[in-house]
Amino acid sequence: MAKRIGLLTSGGDAPGMNACIRAVVRSACASGKKVYGFYRGFEGLIHNRSIPMWPETVSGIIARGGTCLKTARSEAFKTPEGQEKAIQTLREHELDALIVIGGDGSFRGALDLYKKTQISVVGIPGTIDNDLQGTDYTIGFDTALNTAVEAIDRIRDTAESHDRVFIIEVMGRDSGRIALSAALAGGAEGLLLPEIHNDFESLVHSIQNWRHTKSSRIIVVGEGDENGGALHIARILQNQFTSLEFKVTILGHLQRGGKPTALERIYASTMGEFAVQQLDQFRYPVMVGIQNQKPLSVLLSEAVKVKPPLDPILYHTFLTLSQ
Ligand code: F6P
Repeated sequence: MAKRIGLLTSGGDAPGMNACIRAVVRSACASGKKVYGFYRGFEGLIHNRSIPMWPETVSGIIARGGTCLKTARSEAFKTPEGQEKAIQTLREHELDALIVIGGDGSFRGALDLYKKTQISVVGIPGTIDNDLQGTDYTIGFDTALNTAVEAIDRIRDTAESHDRVFIIEVMGRDSGRIALSAALAGGAEGLLLPEIHNDFESLVHSIQNWRHTKSSRIIVVGEGDENGGALHIARILQNQFTSLEFKVTILGHLQRGGKPTALERIYASTMGEFAVQQLDQFRYPVMVGIQNQKPLSVLLSEAVKVKPPLDPILYHTFLTLSQ
């Protein structure tokens, strides 16, 4: 039975990570387990920087964005020397399980540790991009999406007042999930996604057909889109459509901060609690996720294998409604 658990957050921070940390700590302490939180992701394992955690250490964090354990994308952990130091730290603390809150890069790191030590490893999906196979939801997505939609609503006000076209770039390095959902919820008229390869031509075509009944237009661009980013796209469109006025807003890291939504806190807490309670049942490294609003576990190796596709129903709905 796992008695001593290591816990870390890794990769890009995401609102709701604190709620998950709180759930892991409170649930573990309630069942007599000890938790050691490692600072700055795998860097904390390499440099042996940790704190023992108990309910008082996570008091009041459920409503806060970011991660109280801090986070990093550790280059050192990708080296054999870095991993060796991390393994020494695991042994020194006599840890028998490691819970990693992060995205696919962090999970690959966790799998490396499992292969070298056989320690129990559980991943909890934490990335605003919502791009992990095997879960409907990743921590941070709902808050980031709401932030993006609120920004679109605000930009719509000024766009309408000046009869302008705004190109709004949202985050998602390899995934257009924030872009698609934000475009649909924000009533955007155009959308460019990393997953769709002929969408620039379609966008140009639809701008040519825009009726003059509407004064403002919003085009949402996913960060990972192949057309060179919002600024470049705006230059090209401005040259082609001289009667329109194009403006650009890049939302960037704004989407990563802020108070987690209620939904975020609920799912993050549910997954944290489930991870601890089921820890002793897991025979292989798993990712705890949410499917059909319920917690479940899937093999970690499956979760990192491929990126999930865009939701075809959402995309179809967007295309129909934005005509
Ligand atoms: O993985 C989440 C994410 O926010 C991506 O959408 C974005 O491309 C990336 O992190 C940005 O990372 P960083 O904070 O290291 O610039």
